[in-house]
Amino acid sequence: MDQKDKNKTKGQIDKELQQKWEKLHFDTRLISAGEDPYPETSHSLRTPLYATKSYVYSSLSELLENNYYYSRTENPTLYALDKKLASLHGGEAGLSVASGMAAVHLSCMSVLQERVERIRPRKIKNLYPQTNPDVIPNMIIHKNQYTGSFRLFTKIYPQMGIEVKRIDLTDLKRVKSAIDEHTELIFIETPANPTVDIIDIKSCSDLIHEIGGKSIVDNTWASPALQKPLELEADIVVESLTKYINGHGDCLGGAIIGPKNHLRDIRYYWLETQGAVLSSFNAWLILRGARTLGMRMERHSSNALRVAKYLESNEKVQEVVYPGFESHSGHQIAKSQMSGFGGMIGFELSTVEECNQFIELLNQIKVGVSLGDTTSLIEYTSLMTGIDLASWERRSMRISDTHFRLSVGLENPQDLINDLHQALDQL
Ligand SMILES: Cc1ncc(COP(=O)(O)O)c(C=O)c1O
Repeated sequence: MDQKDKNKTKGQIDKELQQKWEKLHFDTRLISAGEDPYPETSHSLRTPLYATKSYVYSSLSELLENNYYYSRTENPTLYALDKKLASLHGGEAGLSVASGMAAVHLSCMSVLQERVERIRPRKIKNLYPQTNPDVIPNMIIHKNQYTGSFRLFTKIYPQMGIEVKRIDLTDLKRVKSAIDEHTELIFIETPANPTVDIIDIKSCSDLIHEIGGKSIVDNTWASPALQKPLELEADIVVESLTKYINGHGDCLGGAIIGPKNHLRDIRYYWLETQGAVLSSFNAWLILRGARTLGMRMERHSSNALRVAKYLESNEKVQEVVYPGFESHSGHQIAKSQMSGFGGMIGFELSTVEECNQFIELLNQIKVGVSLGDTTSLIEYTSLMTGIDLASWERRSMRISDTHFRLSVGLENPQDLINDLHQALDQL
C-alpha cells in the first residue's frame, strides 16, 4: 500500500483501482486487474498464494478493524481473482467459487430463493412455495445446455418447489409467451453445450426485465474475451473457470460476476453457508492462466475455423455446426454479440459403427470430457456427457447417436486436420 493511501478506506482504494483498470484495454486488464498494485502486501510481482484458513490478530479490536476472518469468505489470493473477473466483464463485483456448477447453483439460488436472516419455526411453512400453489416461482431455461445444469434444473429444482420451463430460447415469441407473473429468472447458456446454439442475450434479458425478473448468462464457451453479457443487459454472468479462463486444464473453478450488493449477498450468505469455496492454490493457477486469455481465444477461434472448414469439406462428415459459418442459424446474433466465434465445433458422422471406429483412430486429438484447454479434446456426446440422459431427453436436445463435440486446442491446426483426415480416411 502506498504511503498516500494510508488514510483511505479499503472501499476507496478498491474504487480507485477499479477506475484505473477500467481505462485499460482488455489484454492489459488480463495482466493487471486485481493484481496491480497487489493490495496490502510485499513488493511481489505475482500475487502470493495465501494458504491459510484463519487470519489472526493481537486483539479483538484489531480483528474487528480488518476484513479478513476466515477463508470460506475471504482470502487475498481469491480477492485478486475476484477483482480481475469483475474487471474483465465490466461488472461491479466478482466472486470465484469451487467449480462452474457451484457458480450456476449459487447464482440461481440467490435469485430464486429468499435470503432468510432469522426465522421462527411457525413461519417455516411460508417459505415453502409448495404450500401455496398460487405462488410457485418459475425459471425459464433453454431446451439444450450443459448436462450438469440440465440435471440441476430439471431434476433438483422441481423438488425445491421451483417450476422449470424448458423451451427454445432462440425463438423469442416462445420466450415472451413463457414468461408470466411468477417468472423470476431466465438462464441463458450461449453458445450452448453441446449443440453450439446461439441465444440472443439482449433480447431475452429485455423480455425478462419487463416483469422485473433477472437474467443469468453462462458465458463459459465464449469467455469474456469474446462475449460480455453484462454489456448486453444481463444481470449476472457465470463462468466455469475450469475451461477457457484458466485454459490449461489443471484445476476446477467457477465465477459469478454482477452488481456489488447482489454479489455480497452471494458471498456472505449463499457461499458462506453452502461452502463451495475455491482453494487458494486453484485461484493462483487460474490467475496465472487468465493472463493469456485474449491471445489464446484468438488462436482457439482461428484454429476452430480452419478445422470446421476441413470437416465441412470431408464427405464422410454429415453436418458441421460452428457459429462462424453463415449457415449457422445463430450466425448473425453471434456476430453481433461476440467478438470471435470460439473454439467449439459440433459435427455428425453417418452411422454409430463409424463413430465407434473414428474415435478409436484419433491420435493427436484426445478423447475426453471438458473443453477450453490447450489440448484438443473430443467427446462422443451420447456416450460421454450425454450418457446420464434418457434417450428421449437426448432427442429433445437434438443430441443424435452420431454427434461429436470437438474442443479445438492450441496445437498447430494442420496437425489436427491431419489427425482427423487419417481417421476419417480409414472409415
Ligand atoms: C457451459 C458449461 N457450464 C458449466 C459447466 C460446469 O463447469 P465445472 O465443470 O467447472 O463445474 C460446464 C462444464 O463442462 C459447461 O460446459
